Amino acid sequence: MAVRHLMSPLDFTVEELDHLLDLANDIELHREKYAHICDGKRIATLFYEPSTRTRLSFEAAMMNLGGSVLGFHSEDSSSAAKGESVADTIRIVSCYADIAAMRHPKEGAPLVASLKSSIPVINAGDGGHQHPTQTLTDILTIRSLKGRLGNLTVGICGDLKFGRTVHSLIASLSRYEGISFVLISPEELKVPSYVRDSLRAKNIPYSEVVKLDADTMADLDILYMTRVQRERFFNEADYVRMKDFYILDREKLELAPKDMCVLHPLPRVNEIAVDVDDDPRACYFRQAQYGVYARMALILTLLGIEVD
Ligand code: CP
Repeated sequence: MAVRHLMSPLDFTVEELDHLLDLANDIELHREKYAHICDGKRIATLFYEPSTRTRLSFEAAMMNLGGSVLGFHSEDSSSAAKGESVADTIRIVSCYADIAAMRHPKEGAPLVASLKSSIPVINAGDGGHQHPTQTLTDILTIRSLKGRLGNLTVGICGDLKFGRTVHSLIASLSRYEGISFVLISPEELKVPSYVRDSLRAKNIPYSEVVKLDADTMADLDILYMTRVQRERFFNEADYVRMKDFYILDREKLELAPKDMCVLHPLPRVNEIAVDVDDDPRACYFRQAQYGVYARMALILTLLGIEVD
């Protein structure tokens, strides 16, 4: 059987995605049913860039399924520091593990690895490009909390230029009927032109605004906040100028619809004040929990493990 990888959120059809989200919801409800389904299986987490949620949730996901974990958490702690290529690394890791999740600062590095791999490779974030498993997490959260993935007005706020979660989320939600986007960013951090072109080509309604105010939030079902991606800026002065452009605090949230969900892939820096955390609309910590269920469902799917 051909080895299946996950490089982009569009690698799954909408039907496959529905199945995966159903599986994730079943895992949430019946954890014990899945506790030994991956006994003897191993996931390798190959992280060339820092991570808390993605790496640890992949590891928790495999352990929740009865499997085990090996890997490295930085370039410096692997033979990449001696000059080994990702292509060679994955050929080696294919001898040690059944599936691998790779995060890399270079766009396309997980794709290069997948071409040489005999085990499924998951893109766990490649540079400013894509973050498909964050998108699985996001859409599982949205579907679970809102009950649908279509007919939603989704505001996305912050660093829309470098935020890879944003690019993956827009691509994925664009496949559902009745989606519209409000893209909220400073001029210098607007979505890349290829994202805008793709929205236009699909006739998906969107607007681009600078202010996060009552008018902007009035019709939103979801407000997806993002941090300014310091690590992708060419100079620190630009980052400092931009970093506090948006701060969602309790006062500002008063202006938003009562049933709007605030999401954030996390980590946050200053863009959501901690006084928002107790508001019922603050869903970002639940979102992180959904990340474990989404990754458990993904591991089962890519390993081809059928569940009764
Ligand atoms: N959301 C996300 O990718 O977080 P980490 O960088 O902590 O993995």
